[in-house]
Amino acid sequence: MSEKATIILDGKSYELPVFVGSEGEKAIDIAKLRDMSGYITLDFGYKNTGATTSAITFLDGEEGILRYRGYPIEQLAAKSSFIEVSYLLLNGELPNQRQLDEFQGNIRYHSLVHEDMKRFFEFFPNNAHPMGILSAMVNSLSTFYPKSQDPHRPSKDVERTIFRLIAKMPTLAAISYKNNLGHPYMYPDNKLGYVENFLHMMFGMPTEDYVVDKDVASALNTLLILHADHEQNCSASTVRMVGSSQANLYSAVSAGIAALWGPLHGGANQEVIEMLEAIRNDGSDLEKWVNKAKDKNDPFRLFGFGHRVYKNFDPRAQIIKKACDDVLKKMGVNDPVLDIARQLEEIALKDDYFIERKLYPNVDFYSGIIYRAIGIPTRMFTVMFALGRLPGWIAQWKEMVENKEPIGRPRQIYTGAVNRSYTAIKDRK
Ligand code: CMC
Repeated sequence: MSEKATIILDGKSYELPVFVGSEGEKAIDIAKLRDMSGYITLDFGYKNTGATTSAITFLDGEEGILRYRGYPIEQLAAKSSFIEVSYLLLNGELPNQRQLDEFQGNIRYHSLVHEDMKRFFEFFPNNAHPMGILSAMVNSLSTFYPKSQDPHRPSKDVERTIFRLIAKMPTLAAISYKNNLGHPYMYPDNKLGYVENFLHMMFGMPTEDYVVDKDVASALNTLLILHADHEQNCSASTVRMVGSSQANLYSAVSAGIAALWGPLHGGANQEVIEMLEAIRNDGSDLEKWVNKAKDKNDPFRLFGFGHRVYKNFDPRAQIIKKACDDVLKKMGVNDPVLDIARQLEEIALKDDYFIERKLYPNVDFYSGIIYRAIGIPTRMFTVMFALGRLPGWIAQWKEMVENKEPIGRPRQIYTGAVNRSYTAIKDRK
């Protein structure tokens, strides 16, 4: 930290330290600014505020670069497995064979959920959204494992909580699906890999042998890897913020799931398919819908377009678009909304409104078409995002705890009424 920034306020100069990251990114450390000058910084939506330093994920939005622990997303998506990427995110290094086997074994060991938990599912309304159920169920895990609430427990216990969470989330997600259908729950099959086991719990039936389709498992593996972390996004920041009060990991992740659910974040994948369907049912007049998205008096936005950080292209979207073509071809699926998506992309990318604002398809634009092709219902798309993002959330939480970061507590500039005296109700107009 040799560079300094000078800031002049009310005619006085203040020197502030500059922090430089391993990829040359620079930040002015303003932690002492208020003590020195009385000023705070103001940044709605944290558009230009670094909330932490992090060694997990590097993202360059201008160049369209995404790397987990230094490894390019393109290489991980093509060559790795979701479980291996989870290990990488959590531990900082790729595992050797022994480490991977041990990691996988620990996750398999914890894949069952307490039998009492199954009863919870019976009391949700029939049309309950699976993200609401998932968030509630993950939070409920903390009540089954009360030791998780002790922030000073030994690291072996913390590790077990992490294994439980990674192991049980797919089980909980699949139970909510089966419950919605009124089908019997499928127990995990620990002979299977992580992705295959999830497919077995989702689509298997006790009455018949379910054979996992390799192409489906491979597509899902890629999607989970692409969603596994994305540095300080809304849900990861939520996990870190909730965790910073020393609330337990299950509750912090449950809050992250709630944050992800919003249509501007992970919920966009459900919105995209619903939008494409609406366009189709409306006669596929794409210009009309693009104009709606551009109209400032119309609340409609083109879901799956735009990103806070990516201003050139979203590397995840590029991989997903190609995977989408491959998977649908391999499975012999002809989905008419894929054509609408392609045409919409083409029109938007040539339109000045989108060009000027640097709006490109994001990770959610094509992912839903793959989920749909492999049989995942639309309302579960964001649950799939949550399953993918889980190791990232945990890695972010772990880093925050290990770095002993203080409780998250932003400041504000008050703009309300100034001091005034209470009046008796009879004297009020
Ligand atoms: N359709 C139409 N206009 C848009 C869109 C869109 N999808 N996205 C941004 N804009 C416009 C916006 O109206 C604004 O215009 P102006 O400057 O004239 O006021 C300008 O582009 C900048 O947008 P912003 O809302 O200030 O940008 P932001 O960084 O605050 O928001 C975003 C980013 C992702 C929330 C936003 O682009 C959006 O709402 N996109 C649609 C929802 C979506 O696909 N979300 C998934 C994000 S990727 C997955 C994830 O990580 O969660």
